[in-house]
Amino acid sequence: MFTKKEIIDILKDNTQNEQLFELADIVRHNNVGDEVHLRGLIEFSNTCKCTCHYCGLRAKNKNIERYRIPPDDIIKYAKNAAELGFKTIVLQSGEDNFYTRKIMCKIISEIKKLNIALTLSIGERNFEDLKAFKDAGTDRYLLRIETTDENLYKNLHPGMDFNNRLNCLYNLQKLGYETGSGCLVGLPNQTIESLADDILFFKENNFDMIGIGPFISHPDTPLKDAPNGNFTLSLKVMALVRILMKDINIPATTAMETLHPQGRIIALQSGANVVMPNVTASKYQNKYEIYPNKSHSGEKNKCANCLENKILSIGRTVSNNYGFRNTV
Ligand code: 5AD
Repeated sequence: MFTKKEIIDILKDNTQNEQLFELADIVRHNNVGDEVHLRGLIEFSNTCKCTCHYCGLRAKNKNIERYRIPPDDIIKYAKNAAELGFKTIVLQSGEDNFYTRKIMCKIISEIKKLNIALTLSIGERNFEDLKAFKDAGTDRYLLRIETTDENLYKNLHPGMDFNNRLNCLYNLQKLGYETGSGCLVGLPNQTIESLADDILFFKENNFDMIGIGPFISHPDTPLKDAPNGNFTLSLKVMALVRILMKDINIPATTAMETLHPQGRIIALQSGANVVMPNVTASKYQNKYEIYPNKSHSGEKNKCANCLENKILSIGRTVSNNYGFRNTV
């Protein structure tokens, strides 16, 4: 276990980065093995009621064509993904009240008939909704805390409440979800100290999955003039999470690939063991612009092999199981 001071020192010192990444890779190999879990990501609605300062889907962005995939089509796309061999489907959207408890439960129960694991990533919901989604068969839920610096959180998320987000994460754990969280790296005014707090927060709460990605500036947001986050720093935060949380699932995030052409492969060699290829129908893909140049390389269905080949080329295999925590 590292102290906060040690984490800060590691994040600030760039002379031993390669050793850090190598250690994270060894910890990953020893604890979750060489299998890479592919999760098929369906971005089913880019409609969002929030106004997060960094996000291109923010309600106040008028330069975005909004879409909502009809429930029957979501089910159909999930079926296609299952037929392609995906063992997990991730349903992600903005915070969109159109998809009520009832509508979501219908989608969930239909998708669960496909014999695959199901992850939701649809923002904050009340306890009753989360309970209903769990009862309908949902296995996992992703909700990044984004930053544990409460002041920064408040400034970046107008109208949102840090404690509400925490409660939502605790509710997910209480309800028996495999719970994922994570943070952005390189937000304006974010300190190295607060990144150390983020890492310790993940460890203390023993989350099952942690997604780390660099902040990428979006031209249609209040942070349009802010510099992008740093790829190496994001990788270091991720590597530290792996070293501290040996058996969890860690995705090589798409944002990593946006900042570096080999970003996800490098992440897979620095602690990550999950990739979430986008299986959303291509007519919607360009419209889900959380940040610009969201990588699509190797993600279109026909290109699934490119990703698999890359994974094989670094001595890893593509998992054929559900990839729950602790199932090596
Ligand atoms: N750059 C990088 N990641 C972003 N996200 C939202 N906006 C951005 C951005 N501009 C991330 C958030 C959210 C996830 C779905 O996308 O961390 O939780």
